[in-house]
Amino acid sequence: MKPQPSPNSPRTQSYRNWVSMTGLLLATASFFAFVLLFFIDVFAHHGNPYMGILAYIVAPAFLVFGLLLTVVGAWLLRRQTRKAQSGPPKFMIDLSRPRDRKTLVAFVAGGLMFLLATALGSYNTYHYTESVNFCGTTCHTPMNPEYTAYLDSAHARVACAECHVGPGATWYVKSKLNGVHQLYCTATDKFQRPIKTPVKNLRPAQETCEQCHWPQRFIGNLDRTYTHFLADETNTPFTVRLLLKVGGADPAHGPAGGIHWHMNEANKVEYIASDDQRQVIPWVRTTSRDGVVTEYRSKKFTDDPAKHTIRRMDCMDCHNRPAHDFRSPNDSVDLAMSTGNIDPALPWAKSNVVAVLTQTYATQAEAETKIAADLAKRYPKYAKVAGLVAATQDIYRQNFFPEMKVAWNVYPNNIGHKNWAGCFRCHDGDHKTADGKKQIAASDCNSCHTIVAQGAGAQLEKLNPKGFNFFHLDGEMNDFSCNNCHTGAFPK
Ligand code: HEC
Ligand code: HEC
Ligand code: HEC
Ligand code: HEC
Ligand code: HEC
Ligand code: HEC
Repeated sequence: MKPQPSPNSPRTQSYRNWVSMTGLLLATASFFAFVLLFFIDVFAHHGNPYMGILAYIVAPAFLVFGLLLTVVGAWLLRRQTRKAQSGPPKFMIDLSRPRDRKTLVAFVAGGLMFLLATALGSYNTYHYTESVNFCGTTCHTPMNPEYTAYLDSAHARVACAECHVGPGATWYVKSKLNGVHQLYCTATDKFQRPIKTPVKNLRPAQETCEQCHWPQRFIGNLDRTYTHFLADETNTPFTVRLLLKVGGADPAHGPAGGIHWHMNEANKVEYIASDDQRQVIPWVRTTSRDGVVTEYRSKKFTDDPAKHTIRRMDCMDCHNRPAHDFRSPNDSVDLAMSTGNIDPALPWAKSNVVAVLTQTYATQAEAETKIAADLAKRYPKYAKVAGLVAATQDIYRQNFFPEMKVAWNVYPNNIGHKNWAGCFRCHDGDHKTADGKKQIAASDCNSCHTIVAQGAGAQLEKLNPKGFNFFHLDGEMNDFSCNNCHTGAFPK
């Protein structure tokens, strides 16, 4: 760089100082980072909402800061000049002066390092924001419940973005704007407690779940055992073994029918929900491959369906908690007792632990202290009370988040019908065609599953391939109102 005899105006000359140069370097680097992020953003396979924050907020912020620094440098220099009453000091780099040589080398080397670091830094930050760790822990308070449940789910190895963003450009932009909005809400502490579901801008399952799960897959029958304990002195075991007729949706791979019948591309199932959480479904319409349309209504619904939002049923209308299932106190204590974490021989254990878990606590810390005190009081002579307390606190930590007002009873789980209406939102015997001749199948407790065994001990070993009538407490039960009594805590 040769010292110029200054044909320039004093205005441009005043930018020739180290502060302004640093500002320019910063501005260049952040522009460079922006371009890089922008290209990753446009061409990367998987979207990620936080990219938007980086590319469109962080990089430009540095750009603006760099430009400001440039101006400040110039201003400082001019003020100095005015004070000195002489012309602006010449910003000259004279390579014959050792001091100038050193500064220049340092500046160029520093500048190059900075540019390189920016490139690497942006790329790594991009990777980090894509990670589950970032989504789950960065905005710790609002995401903690979902993150905790997720780590304990079948999808613990699936990135948040795979379900919440998915591929494609339009959703990319949407989720990016959403990411910016979330940043704002978290920064200003304005997020909802609990976060509302169903998530309105969640993509349809065809574009998320079905990217990994093939809807045509034939699953057939699944053998599931549900182990329970009654809330009596001896914690009487009560187990139900079901053969779930999941079936399949595509005749090319097995008989198309069973629970996954709804997923048959040939049958479109649509419905109207009259509440935000989609728990009340008064109207259902099916369209078969050959175009036959059947409309089912519940007795009370007399509205014109065109006035309502009609939703097409997909995986998430049944599997709505594939990654964030908060277990009810009843079910989590049953699980702990079946694995021996809580001793099923301890008198009234089921009843007492559920009672302790269902008290109201303000924070997790308060809950843990009070749980310990309460159980110690209920079992003053029990030698292993420390283990009981630890198991109970574990259940609490995993499923209750008072800081976010989240617990099992906040988010409905639609997969079954015991604690929530689930399948019985439609299969309750109340959904009929206008002529009353057809209804959505409901009558038989062995139509969706076969109750192959139930009870305890020797009784549980008697299998019935045709299916038992459900035996409930002292009698048979084929009532479709399970969730009127079963709420996840003590049944009424
Ligand atoms: C297997 C798919 C899947 C994965 C992976 C997943 N989610 Fe979700 N998430 C869902 C579905 C489906 C819902 C809607 C639940 C509903 O409608 O009841 C949801 C809802 C949410 C909600 C709204 C509140 C709630 O509990 O319903 C938040 C917050 C959330 N997810 C955060 C996350 C975070 C953070 C991660 C990663 C740590 C993640 N999700 C990973 C499928 C997923
Ligand atoms: C990125 C791939 C991916 C996506 C997207 C995905 N899943 Fe999965 N899902 C998996 C894998 C892998 C497993 C099996 C985990 C295992 O067996 O360890 C699984 C398991 C399941 C299971 C069986 C769970 C169990 O408890 O055994 C269900 C049900 C399921 N997924 C539903 C869904 C739904 C609904 C969605 C959309 C909201 C979804 N998945 C999105 C990869 C995915
Ligand atoms: C009508 C409700 C319903 C719909 C809609 C539905 N499923 Fe299922 N699915 C079930 C039930 C019930 C089971 C039995 C397992 C259970 O209860 O968790 C099941 C089981 C599964 C399993 C577990 C198989 C195993 O081997 O454990 C997977 C995977 C699955 N479904 C994926 C999907 C996908 C993907 C979609 C959307 C294309 C879908 N399901 C739509 C109700 C449904
Ligand atoms: C939005 C309403 C709706 C929901 C929710 C729903 N179904 Fe259905 N289901 C239907 C309709 C409509 C039919 C077709 C009419 C019929 O066969 O009764 C059907 C048919 C079925 C069939 C018969 C399929 C065949 O082979 O013909 C089974 C089994 C079934 N559903 C199981 C379930 C299960 C299990 C759940 C809950 C996990 C569930 N359904 C949730 C609307 C629903
Ligand atoms: C529309 C289909 C359908 C019908 C009809 C149906 N069930 Fe179920 N049931 C299911 C599904 C799906 C599950 C599994 C839920 C899960 O994966 O947690 C289930 C689970 C159960 C369980 C185990 C629940 C638990 O947590 O222990 C029992 C018991 C049960 N059903 C009894 C009955 C009885 C009694 C009837 C008749 C009044 C009946 N079911 C009718 C679909 C149905
Ligand atoms: C009138 C109220 C009522 C209705 C309706 C009802 N239950 Fe129950 N159920 C109870 C009570 C009370 C118990 C005993 C609970 C205990 O001692 O812990 C019980 C116990 C059970 C148990 C074993 C213990 C447990 O807590 O899981 C299962 C499984 C069960 N019921 C399933 C069902 C199913 C499935 C339906 C619907 C088909 C149903 N119940 C309908 C009141 C009811």
